[in-house]
Amino acid sequence: MVTLTPVLVRHSRGFQHINKQIAAFQMDIAGEKKAISGAPNLQILILLWCSECKPPFVPIVLDTQFLGIGDQGLHHGFHGRQDLFLEEEMEKKEPFDLFRKWFQQVKEDPRTVEPNAMHLSTSSKDGAPSGRLVLLKGFGEDGFRFFTHYTSRKGQELEENPRAAITFNWIHFSRQVRIEGDIEKLPVETANEYFNKRPYQSQIGALCSDQSKPVESRDILFQKEQLLKLQYKEGQVPRPEFWGGYLLKPKMIEFWQGRSDRIHDRIRFRFPAANEPDGVLTKPGDKGWIYEELYA
Ligand SMILES: Cc1cc2nc3c(=O)[nH]c(=O)nc-3n(C[C@H](O)[C@H](O)[C@H](O)COP(=O)(O)O)c2cc1C
Repeated sequence: MVTLTPVLVRHSRGFQHINKQIAAFQMDIAGEKKAISGAPNLQILILLWCSECKPPFVPIVLDTQFLGIGDQGLHHGFHGRQDLFLEEEMEKKEPFDLFRKWFQQVKEDPRTVEPNAMHLSTSSKDGAPSGRLVLLKGFGEDGFRFFTHYTSRKGQELEENPRAAITFNWIHFSRQVRIEGDIEKLPVETANEYFNKRPYQSQIGALCSDQSKPVESRDILFQKEQLLKLQYKEGQVPRPEFWGGYLLKPKMIEFWQGRSDRIHDRIRFRFPAANEPDGVLTKPGDKGWIYEELYA
């Protein structure tokens, strides 16, 4: 039995009118739920008898997205209970195996654009936060790698406060992964190796940019680019010292899987604090991790 309150009702004369007519509207859709689930923005039309209306039949449209059973609207493709993720379905009780699987699934999905785009949060030494998107350029059990200008705002903040958080948002899978940890610079050799593999224009772009600083005009940028192209031919661009990579070494990785019944899944892996007692709700994982399910 699903209870529909008047706020779920669309009526040609507005909510107020219909609110007067009904306090709550109940509908047994249990039988229909399976068929309706996954339907693209299905709408159910109901004719309600209303003595104040002329004609006295009021059409009411109920959107399945409001019922939590449609597949569109604000929530893109929430998943049902049958899908992967519940704790007992995790093959290994550590986060990298699950991250690898999720990342692979997202990469293989034709709907995906930039699977490796991630939101990077940093903060200044006095605690003011800032965020932006960057691209994940590799990961392993040591951590998550990305490249940028060391002299940028994020670079300066990471210098002052070498801790960061990254968030992946794979909306078409109703998934979010949050990662928090310490930051260190990748070795010069790794930065060189990656820089040398980048396309010529990206190399020139990195050299051209004094990232995060004000620039007088695009003309200045264009002139700078032309000069650099005269100076360095393809295959000869040196990595600027102010550009390189970072490794985020995770202390916490949390997986969130949205569900159509809104009882979402959320599992947090973390390393136990020193002398942390075994908790009733905290479970031992593999490779030193512990994990716990969280209210979503
Ligand atoms: C999808 C996407 C991917 C991006 N990837 C990177 C990246 O890998 N490295 C980078 O320095 N900036 C990247 N940027 C630009 C950053 O979002 C940001 O504008 C820039 O790094 C300056 O940030 P800051 O001033 O906070 O340091 C990307 C932007 C978008 C929209």
